[in-house]
Amino acid sequence: MYPIRRNRRLRTNEAIRSLVRETIITPNDFLVPLFVVEGKGVKEEIASMPNYYRYSLDLLSEEVKQLWSMGLKSVLLFVKVPDLLKDNKGTEALNPDGLMQRAVKTIKNACPEMLVMTDVALDPYSIYGHDGVLVDGKVLNDDTAEILADMSISHAEAGADFVAPSDMMDGRILTIREALEDEGFTDTGIMSYSAKYASAFYGPFRDALDSAPANMKNVPKDKKTYQMDPGNRDEALRETEMDIDEGADIVMIKPGIAYLDIVREIRNEVEVPVAVYQVSGEYAMIKAAAEKGWLDHDAVMMEQITAIKRAGAHIIASYFAKDVVNFIS
Ligand code: PBG
Repeated sequence: MYPIRRNRRLRTNEAIRSLVRETIITPNDFLVPLFVVEGKGVKEEIASMPNYYRYSLDLLSEEVKQLWSMGLKSVLLFVKVPDLLKDNKGTEALNPDGLMQRAVKTIKNACPEMLVMTDVALDPYSIYGHDGVLVDGKVLNDDTAEILADMSISHAEAGADFVAPSDMMDGRILTIREALEDEGFTDTGIMSYSAKYASAFYGPFRDALDSAPANMKNVPKDKKTYQMDPGNRDEALRETEMDIDEGADIVMIKPGIAYLDIVREIRNEVEVPVAVYQVSGEYAMIKAAAEKGWLDHDAVMMEQITAIKRAGAHIIASYFAKDVVNFIS
């Protein structure tokens, strides 16, 4: 006797498959990371991130208008800081006329409804390429959190809708939330990188911003004293719950594909929106394999994005956002 239930009935053709599909990707799923540089008319391709660019402010305006027209309504900003402006404490990060602050204003001017999130971390501003102040070979926690709070206020003053601390210092969400409240920025949100792993997948991003830990004496070569150990799962929940208690509006897990067990676990436990960052190395791997003709670019891209959403992401930060929207529309 054949089974009464034949699951293949629901896979017979595209019409039925699309009728029962559980995970649908739309432009609303995406947060678009953008890299910003000084200059005019600059659109530089990032060597390890094919077809991804750093933009000067004039071209950034064009880019965000295009994103908006594609239905991509949220951006996450990163700046490449000239070496001359780097120091140990990220002083330039607080400059009201700094690149980040001008970038926020530029976008709000060009596209007032675009949701602007800003990266809050010291590494692009640090001569040592670390996410905090370095003293005697150690990344200081509380001093760094205070600077991140000042940075957050500076970004809020420039017009940022959300600040996105990507540093993994303890207690920084509370420090930032309290500072924003004190300054009257009650509507400025916080998207916390809550479970950010010390991952080798960030390599191309560090090329993009020239922000890798410096190869100098007494400078830690990696970020393992603040970013999480890839072997840990329970700790990711603890980190995320603490950030929510401290006032995070959105929590993020990073990287994506290699950490989808963590994504599902956190999605099952928390009641705030969950974001996943499909990071630079994940982008680079697909681009490189496709360039060699070893993988089907669009198919693998869609499969990975779908897997991230299926695992539990409400929001996906991805360098593929435009490629995906072009593919699905
Ligand atoms: C640093 C930061 C990193 C990324 C986002 N913010 C790199 C790092 O922690 O060294 C990585 C993003 C990516 O790889 O796409 N604060």
